[in-house]
Parts: sequence; C-alpha cells; structure tokens
Amino acid sequence: MDSRIHLYKMSLEERRKKIKEITNLTDEEIAYYDGNLTHIADKMVENVIGTYQIPIGIATNFLINGKDYLIPMAIEEASVIAAASNAAKIARVRGGFTAYADEPVMIGEVQVINLKDVEESKIKILKSKKEIIDIANSCDPTLIKFGGGCKDIEVRKIDESMMVVHLLVDCRDAMGANAVNTMAEKVKEKIEEITGGNVLLRIISNLAIYRKAYAYATFDKNALGGEDVVDKILIAYDLARKDIFRCATHNKGIMNGIDALMIATGNDFRAVEAGAHSYAALNGYKPLTHYSKDKEGNLVGSIEIPMPVGIIGGATKVHPQARTNLKILDVRSAKELAEVAAALGLAQNLAALKALSTEGIQRGHMELHARNIAISAGVPIEVADKIADIMIKEKRISMDYARQIFEKMNKNE
Ligand code: MEV
Repeated sequence: MDSRIHLYKMSLEERRKKIKEITNLTDEEIAYYDGNLTHIADKMVENVIGTYQIPIGIATNFLINGKDYLIPMAIEEASVIAAASNAAKIARVRGGFTAYADEPVMIGEVQVINLKDVEESKIKILKSKKEIIDIANSCDPTLIKFGGGCKDIEVRKIDESMMVVHLLVDCRDAMGANAVNTMAEKVKEKIEEITGGNVLLRIISNLAIYRKAYAYATFDKNALGGEDVVDKILIAYDLARKDIFRCATHNKGIMNGIDALMIATGNDFRAVEAGAHSYAALNGYKPLTHYSKDKEGNLVGSIEIPMPVGIIGGATKVHPQARTNLKILDVRSAKELAEVAAALGLAQNLAALKALSTEGIQRGHMELHARNIAISAGVPIEVADKIADIMIKEKRISMDYARQIFEKMNKNE
C-alpha cells in the first residue's frame, strides 16, 4: 500500500470508495461512517441521549519504519489533517519516520499512610516483592497468558508517614487502566499487613514514564523551502524551550495530531494528554519535540512522549468506527499504534513550526476555514464552496462578506 493518495482532490464519495478499496473495508464497515450509533452509545456511558459527531479524515503520506500508513484522525479543527499529511510528505523525501515504543508497562499507585517508619516499610515491601506480584497477577490470567502482568514493584517515599507503592504492569495490547486498577485494589490488604500502615488510593498513574514512544525524522531543507526556513524553525523551537507561554502552544500542536488519532481509535485521549504534559513538566515545562540541523543543513526532528494506548479493551473494540479506523490504520499491536502516534505528533509539530515561522498560520487556516465560515453565515450548503472560493480569491474571509456575496448572487439571478 502506498499512502501517497490525493484525497483532497476527491469528492467525499470518491474518498470513501478509495479508502474502502485500499484497506479492504466491507460495505458494513464503510457504512458506519454514516450510521446512527446511538444504540451502541447507550451501552457505553450513562444517561445517553444521542451521539456527538466530529469529522474523521485520513492523513496521507506517512512512511514509518518503512511501512506506509493511512492515519484516521477525528478532529473538529480545520487544517490539522492537511498539515500532518504535508509534513509526512516532507519527511518522506529522506526516508520518512523512524519510530520506537517501549514495552507497554503502566504504573499502578498504591498510597500507604500512617506509617511509623517509611524507610523501614519501604524495605519490607521490597523484600516481599514476589508475594505482592503474585497477588496482583492472580487478578488477570488472560493478561498473564499473553505475557503481560505485574513485573516489578517500586516504592517512593512521599513524606515522613506516607509512601507510594508502584506496581509496574505490562498491559500488552491494552491501555491497561482496568487491569492496573484491579491489581492495585487487590494488593491493599497485603501491603497493610506488611507495613502496618493504611492503604488509601489505588489507581493508575497517567505519568507513564515506562511506556514512552519515540520518533525521529530528517526534514529535507529544500522540501521545507530552503535552509533559511530551517533556521527560522530552529529559532521558533528555541522560544518554546525558553518560554512556557510558547511551550504550552507548541505542545498543544503536537497533541492536535495525537488526540485526533486517539479519538479515532477509541483511546482515552485524556490519559495521553495527562501523560504528555506531566512528562513535559518533569524538569520544568519543556517541549516534547527536539530539533537540530544536520551537516547538510537539513532539519532533524525527534519526539519522546508517554503513550499509554491500546488496540483492545475500552472503546477500541466496542465502537464500530474505532474498530474500522484501526483496520484502516492496520496496526498489529499497541506498541505499533504508539509508534504511529509519536510520528504523527512530530509531523504535526513540524507543520505548525514551518507555517508559523514562514507565512503564519492564519492564511492556510482561514482558507480551509472559509467554507465553514460561509456555512456559519447561513448560506445554503450548495453555494458554500463557491462563496468560499470568492472569499479566498479576494482574501476577505468573514461571515459578513459571505452574506454580502450571497445577497449579490441572489440579486444577479
Ligand atoms: C493550533 O491548534 C496549533 C498551533 O497553535 C500549534 C503551534 O503554535 O505550534 C498552530
């Protein structure tokens, strides 16, 4: 499969047909994108009154570890999908992205309070590692069968009477919150017995430092628009390193891509967000990406980010669109999904930096946005494209002007 397809030039129907063909979707699967899923939603959360739909588009051109990917992205913001596809095209010139993900190990936290001697309790827990691990692993035989389960224990002193026991749980292809939380609850009594303290909170930590994903790419200087653009991108990056106000937005741009993929695949994007920002803040809030220039003047970019994602469990299998999006993406493991997410985050960030340090973000953004603005102004859908084209051509994109053009069109008829 070659992900270099020009979806933007096609009609919605042509796009669907193309994606169906390339990814072998069934008629039923492609129909999910139009279907009423309220009956499924009703089984997913409480007090359901319907579903809320946001657009799903496909990012193209991604070459990651030598494999082509079509990446489904669920997002309401114009230009994010186009920007990712464009950055992936630039990365392709020099071989695409190289990505890697750690083993899928999550941390379960068990808070122990009212301790007389935290140092002593810590050693007692470490000495009883095997016993605690065995209790944790009695919860989930299926996870153990697939090679996962609680693998290790850590203890962190919080203050003179409180510590936290970490269960390090390999969640295999699941995000793992359920498995981890069940284990953390199960070891309560044993930990109280060993330490003489009281266990209070038992919950997963979203700061998934053992489950990170990494991606790397060389962005060709000519494809970027020249070495001058490379230099400007480096200056833009430097601001994010030195200024938290810019850094917040820099990292937000990364998450534009990653969240869109998380939502499309039924993953808990809040968990990924929490992990990303807390990791960025570990040593003072910093960018999740890094950039430098190679000897030839090309831009070298990389990303390192916690990536607690799954391809089984949660909504990933229950939600028909999430299932179908995973089929389009064609990832075989949670690790592979994490690698794609990291590459996508890097692409998204590069695209934003390139736009910001050259023509600015608004032009491209507003062009893509023009149609939405025309529709928001109340013009009929059939003429929205035409009105958007006129506004773009005349570089006057506003609701007022959309209405004026529409009125003029009506008068001329
Ligand atoms: C907008 O959703 C995201 C950007 O602001 C990211 C950035 O500034 O790097 C364009």
